[in-house]
Amino acid sequence: MFERSAVHQRLCWGALYLLAAGVALTSETRWLCPPSCHCNATALEVNCSGGQLTRVPDGLSQEARLLNLTQNTLKTLVRQQFHTLTQLSDLDLSDNLLVIIEVEAFLGLQSLRTLRLCRNHLKIIPVGAFAGLTNLQLLDVSSNQLLVFLDFTFSELNALRFMKAADNDLVYVSHQAFTGLTSLQELHLDGCNLTAMPAEALTQLSVLRSLSFHRLGLTTLPNYSFRHLVHLKELVISHCPWLESLSGNSLFGLNLTSLTIKHGNLSAFPYIPLHHLVYLVYLDLSFNPITYIHANLLGDLLRLQELHLVGGSLLRIEIGAFKGLAHFRLLNASRNHLTTLEVGAFYSVDTLRTLGLDNNPLACDCRLLWVVQRRLYMDFGESPPTCITSVQLQGWNFLDFPEAELPDLLTCRPPRILNRKAQVMKVDQGHTVVFHCSAEGDPLPSVRWLNPQLRSLSPIGRVRALSNGSLEVRYAQPQDSGKYLCVASNAAGNDSLPVSLHVQTFPSSSKKPFRLKGWSAFPSAAPGVNGNQKLHFDVKTLLIAATIGFLSFFSSVSVCFIFMFFWSKGKGQIKHTATIAYVPRSAMSSSNGGTSSYMETGRFTMKLL
Ligand SMILES: *[C@@H]1O[C@H](CO)[C@@H](O)[C@H](O)[C@H]1NC(C)=O
Ligand SMILES: *[C@@H]1O[C@H](CO)[C@@H](O)[C@H](O)[C@H]1NC(C)=O
Ligand SMILES: *[C@@H]1O[C@H](CO)[C@@H](O)[C@H](O)[C@H]1NC(C)=O
Ligand SMILES: *[C@@H]1O[C@H](CO)[C@@H](O)[C@H](O)[C@H]1NC(C)=O
Ligand SMILES: *[C@@H]1O[C@H](CO)[C@@H](O)[C@H](O)[C@H]1NC(C)=O
Ligand SMILES: *[C@@H]1O[C@H](CO)[C@@H](O)[C@H](O)[C@H]1NC(C)=O
Ligand SMILES: *[C@@H]1O[C@H](CO)[C@@H](O)[C@H](O)[C@H]1NC(C)=O
Ligand SMILES: *[C@@H]1O[C@H](CO)[C@@H](O)[C@H](O)[C@H]1NC(C)=O
Ligand SMILES: *[C@@H]1O[C@H](CO)[C@@H](O)[C@H](O)[C@H]1NC(C)=O
Ligand SMILES: *[C@@H]1O[C@H](CO)[C@@H](O)[C@H](O)[C@H]1NC(C)=O
Repeated sequence: MFERSAVHQRLCWGALYLLAAGVALTSETRWLCPPSCHCNATALEVNCSGGQLTRVPDGLSQEARLLNLTQNTLKTLVRQQFHTLTQLSDLDLSDNLLVIIEVEAFLGLQSLRTLRLCRNHLKIIPVGAFAGLTNLQLLDVSSNQLLVFLDFTFSELNALRFMKAADNDLVYVSHQAFTGLTSLQELHLDGCNLTAMPAEALTQLSVLRSLSFHRLGLTTLPNYSFRHLVHLKELVISHCPWLESLSGNSLFGLNLTSLTIKHGNLSAFPYIPLHHLVYLVYLDLSFNPITYIHANLLGDLLRLQELHLVGGSLLRIEIGAFKGLAHFRLLNASRNHLTTLEVGAFYSVDTLRTLGLDNNPLACDCRLLWVVQRRLYMDFGESPPTCITSVQLQGWNFLDFPEAELPDLLTCRPPRILNRKAQVMKVDQGHTVVFHCSAEGDPLPSVRWLNPQLRSLSPIGRVRALSNGSLEVRYAQPQDSGKYLCVASNAAGNDSLPVSLHVQTFPSSSKKPFRLKGWSAFPSAAPGVNGNQKLHFDVKTLLIAATIGFLSFFSSVSVCFIFMFFWSKGKGQIKHTATIAYVPRSAMSSSNGGTSSYMETGRFTMKLL
């Protein structure tokens, strides 16, 4: 039994040995393997990685499919360096010290599909370096020190689909740099030192689907930056610490489904530049100091599903912010300054599946009840939201709440206007009136004022609602009379208080109110005028002031005229020569002494001005 198996084993070993010898023999004739490389004849791969090579080794097999030359110390690729490797499909030259690539260095590599040159020391790629790479699909020149892309650098790469050039020091991209890249679908660029968008160069990339820009050195994304990129679906602009705004038409011509602008300096949500992106599904504006999302401004993005706003400065997402977004299913607003997020911000919370609200100073009251009620099937990401600013619930995590006590724990107190005494004011025309209105409640109610026509008053204008809750009527006019309404409201309800204003007209002629009207427009237009400095304008004073002003103006004009008269008398000689100079031009007019002196004065006055 044992003997037979031993014989068996020996036979097997013999067969294996013969097989191995055969492989070795046949491959030796075709497979030359340079000393510092490992070759795999079945996979047709040559691995010279980490072989301390200072130049491309000789004696590479012509049938090699893959040549890995990473982690060596190659400095130069000479002309037709690889011309024998007609079957080569992948060439990896990453992590070398390449500084120079000669023109036509890759000539002959007609089967090459991928070429990796990342993490070298290339500063420039000469035009023609990539000549002959007609089947190249992927080119990676990331993490070099490339400064410029010259015209026609990539002109023969008609099959190229992916190009990575991130992490370089690009200063300039020439207008024709991307000419010939007729199949390019994905481009990664790094624009650290670019002072202008390479908009002209990008217009060559007619089938581009994905574009990413890192470290763009611009403060404003200019208008028409991406013209003709009609097939672009995904745009990423990231790590642009100076980028403060997008021009209104900066994304003009694009039809994106995914847009990322993160790690920038945008302080306002770019509603206008984005509004035409009706196919947008994914929007990431994380790590920008955006403070507000206003109501009713995102409705055009009707297919939006995901909005990422991590690590911003969000103070408030207004009610109605996501109005019209019927497919909205993810909001990630982790690490902001939100105190709450009201259900009214959403079109429908039934579609919402994922909500990032952690690391916000949340006040847990009735406004967040909807989130807690959905906590079991809502995805909160890494960590659930936590109550921070509520005294009783401080530190409570949204998953901690006992179901039965929810309505008692997360409560609000409706607003109550304080000092509810009837305010009725009778004033003379031209006076300034202030009505007070303050309210308490939890959360603290917001106070607004409605005018007698029940329209909301804004914080600017002659009749305005001050930010401290008071109503101010400056230089009161008879038509301001009526019943004003103070409305205090919070998530739990509203309370209101009417006040009355009667403005008495001056018992005098019809001319004076007309003049006052003209005057009253002036102070309301000047925001510098402080409300509590009661500027008392009296009609008489105004009239006297106007008269004095007019008199002084009139007298200075008269003095001027007298002065000019004497001047023209004194300069009689000059006047004479000047008259002669005028004669040929106005040949038709009579050279009357009177008219010429008139012309002289006219000319002199113009000089004075
Ligand atoms: C050579 O490549 C083949 C196919 O990829 C693989 O199965 C084999 O293990 C490789 N041989 C060596 C010695 O790495
Ligand atoms: C290539 O060779 C290096 C050095 O011998 C080795 O560390 C590496 O794993 C090899 N790579 C592949 C893809 O076989
Ligand atoms: C070349 O070898 C390095 C080191 O083993 C490896 O990381 C790299 O992926 C290889 N390149 C290719 C194209 O296989
Ligand atoms: C590019 O910008 C970086 C950082 O702003 C700077 O360190 C580098 O010197 C610049 N390079 C050139 C070539 O201007
Ligand atoms: C970002 O913008 C603010 C003003 O909006 C400015 O003070 C700040 O310096 C900017 N940051 C950078 C890195 O430019
Ligand atoms: C960009 O286009 C918008 C809309 O047409 C225009 O209002 C704005 O002035 C333009 N900005 C610049 C810098 O040209
Ligand atoms: C915009 O893109 C969507 C899908 O990505 C496509 O269905 C639509 O036809 C495109 N519109 C135009 C005008 O190209
Ligand atoms: C929000 O984004 C942060 C950072 O990318 C991530 O860690 C977190 O899991 C995300 N939250 C959700 C709810 O997806
Ligand atoms: C105050 O609340 C009531 C009931 O909630 C509502 O009908 C009314 O319109 C509100 N008034 C104002 C001015 O918001
Ligand atoms: C609000 O401010 C105005 C002007 O600044 C002042 O006249 C008024 O008294 C203030 N109201 C309250 C309630 O303090």
